[in-house]
Amino acid sequence: MADEIVNVEQAQAWDGPDGEYWATHQERFDRTIGPHHSLLMAAAAIAPGEHVLDVGCGNGLTSRDAARTAGPGGSVLAVDLSGPMLAKAEQLAKDEGLGNIRFEQGDAQVHRFEAGAYDLAMSRFGVMFFADPVAAFTNIASALRPGGRLAMLVWQSGAGNEWMGSMRDALAAGRNLPAPPPGAPGPFALADREFTRNILTAAGFTDVGFASSEQPFNVGADPDDAYRFAVGMAPVQWLLADLDEATKAEALEGLRATIAAHQTADGIVFGSAAWVVTARKP
Ligand SMILES: C[S@@+](CC[C@H](N)C(=O)[O-])C[C@H]1O[C@@H](n2cnc3c(N)ncnc32)[C@H](O)[C@@H]1O
Repeated sequence: MADEIVNVEQAQAWDGPDGEYWATHQERFDRTIGPHHSLLMAAAAIAPGEHVLDVGCGNGLTSRDAARTAGPGGSVLAVDLSGPMLAKAEQLAKDEGLGNIRFEQGDAQVHRFEAGAYDLAMSRFGVMFFADPVAAFTNIASALRPGGRLAMLVWQSGAGNEWMGSMRDALAAGRNLPAPPPGAPGPFALADREFTRNILTAAGFTDVGFASSEQPFNVGADPDDAYRFAVGMAPVQWLLADLDEATKAEALEGLRATIAAHQTADGIVFGSAAWVVTARKP
């Protein structure tokens, strides 16, 4: 990686096993997140000719959608920590013949963006992993022109996110699992609106707004399919890591039962809730 990396643990995870898993299961992640994705793209309101920065682009669906809309007169710079996901994103962009996306591996908290070069900075769940969010959003703001926009999706708290909450409950196996401290890097780091508004304001943004996106979260066609997907995920592996074999088997049975209880005519569906956060650089 050419860049300096300050989020070292996150880089190890995303440029390692987490990133491999997301790249391997790209279609499923994109399908599962799809309903939230549409609201993000609507909020981003990209116009032809615009220059877009996609932060934590992962497998790059947002980058490809942005590049198509920005058209040949516009461009996308897509930045991510994860080599495996960037490789997937580059391949998909190439398959589609999109020549106006540049992918760069780096840490968005410190990546040297061209100052004032972008009309829009966007992210689909790629901005909750910064050790120093004020520094990271200040760096992102520096890439925007005056009047430039920020549009991003972040998860609401665990209470609105049945999938992650249910997995955690099923795998607790009698343990009292402490909730991460507010703001700790992870899926729920920007769940609290006041916390996030303060961070964005300190980073120089104005007009910070939040729209709630509450959507079905379809994790698989049937219980076996969803279970196979779930057990490979990094948070599930962490929760299982300290358990002895008997407790692990019991916890996995609990997970299977939770998944089976969410069978609907459309597949295995949980509830999920995210914020579409918008802001502007003055
Ligand atoms: C939950 S995934 C979302 C990926 C993609 N945006 C999507 O919606 O499919 C989080 C992404 O953020 C990236 N990421 C996390 N911290 C980052 C950082 N400091 N700089 C750049 N990318 C980061 C990860 O590598 C990963 O690709």
